Amino acid sequence: MAGSICMSLTDKSPAATAETARLMDAVYRNQRHFYDLTRKYYLLGRDRLIDRLQLPRGATVLELGCGTGRNLIAAAKRYPDARYFGVDISEQMLETARHNIARAGLSDRITLRQGDASDPAAADGFGPDAFDRVIYSYTLSMIPVWREALKAGMARLAPHGRLSVVDFGQQQRLPGLFKKLLFLWLAKFHVSPRADLQRELEQLSEAYGAGLEASGLYRGYAFYAEISRPAGYSPATK
Ligand SMILES: C[S@@+](CC[C@H](N)C(=O)[O-])C[C@H]1O[C@@H](n2cnc3c(N)ncnc32)[C@H](O)[C@@H]1O
Repeated sequence: MAGSICMSLTDKSPAATAETARLMDAVYRNQRHFYDLTRKYYLLGRDRLIDRLQLPRGATVLELGCGTGRNLIAAAKRYPDARYFGVDISEQMLETARHNIARAGLSDRITLRQGDASDPAAADGFGPDAFDRVIYSYTLSMIPVWREALKAGMARLAPHGRLSVVDFGQQQRLPGLFKKLLFLWLAKFHVSPRADLQRELEQLSEAYGAGLEASGLYRGYAFYAEISRPAGYSPATK
């Protein structure tokens, strides 16, 4: 059971990574079979992210925490001239993703690998060193070292590239009781909406001389942001 796994996941040691992988496998071992069916009702804003990818011909897209491959498949159908790469720490989720991608006939355009999104080397070996789009969809709220995961993705963003994030918001304009019950329920799935997400994105975009657009969706239920990287920069921090 997921709940019986010891939690010491706030560092980036190999032991912590292995523990996160075990935890995510435990969380998703059964859920992955009905994940796409159920999540479409509450992982809101994912289609907006895909709509806004606006991919040029030949573009490359990296999703960190790709889960069942739902977003990569939808994007590949929408933008057929691009190539897609997905990283997930859970082999269980990747098994479902491989199955879904093969069933959609997209195995030649979507490549997956197991890895930790907070590890800058997680995207090594895909082919491209840098990606035109790096996306995080309801993933940062599940990664204890989410700041490192953001930095790792930013380091992989190509000049003129765009990093997009959609995740749970802080429910600012929804009733307090709704927020309380939602956060309690999400905690059961090891999900923690990040109150500091916008601040972290501001710091990251400043360090990279990049532009940031951030907004709440659905009365703060979800949070959406994009960092657009300029062509030339020298980051103050990495
Ligand atoms: C809520 S699911 C979102 C999946 C997908 N992005 C979507 O929008 O449907 C979160 C995913 O993040 C993955 N994950 C959690 N921690 C991770 C980490 N450190 N590195 C990579 N993936 C991770 C989980 O295995 C899971 O597949």
